Amino acid sequence: MMEKTFLMLKPDAVQRGFVGEIISTFEKKGFKLAGMKFIQVDRALAEEHYAEHKGKGFFEPTVEYIMSSPVVAMVWQGKNVVALARELMGATNPANANPGSIRGRYGMDISRNVIHGSDSVTSAEREISLYFKPEELVEYTKAGDEWLSE
Ligand code: PPS
Repeated sequence: MMEKTFLMLKPDAVQRGFVGEIISTFEKKGFKLAGMKFIQVDRALAEEHYAEHKGKGFFEPTVEYIMSSPVVAMVWQGKNVVALARELMGATNPANANPGSIRGRYGMDISRNVIHGSDSVTSAEREISLYFKPEELVEYTKAGDEWLSE
């Protein structure tokens, strides 16, 4: 089974009009979309998503931020997609992100960092199951896959 990751285009990506461009970055790299939904995250889901940070000073502002506008929740698959998506995204704090990365190009502050991506295969499984039912993920053959590797 091909590795999967969970990506979320955060409220600032939606409001600032970066949805198409960011999706295009992952498409062009060669990853395959397995699921996508445009949703308004409620408090229960936001708190569950960031549960590991409960008690930290940035927990409540982060929960409020994620609920402040619709987001695009996605599952992408491909070889080494968890780590490579993090590379394409750049460092969590856009101030430290490579200028060619998504956060380096579009972000300035850690509290508005445009995109979320799972940090491990285990986190990806947890986050995918928070946002998607198994039947909402699609398995299909994508034209062009044969040009990505031998
Ligand atoms: S840490 O510092 O190791 O706990 O950070 P990390 O696990 O990479 O992700 C923390 C998520 O919370 C968001 N956030 C902040 N993190 C650290 N400091 C501040 N001030 C802060 N404000 C918000 C950060 O963007 C991470 O969100 P995701 O969605 O995972 O990128």
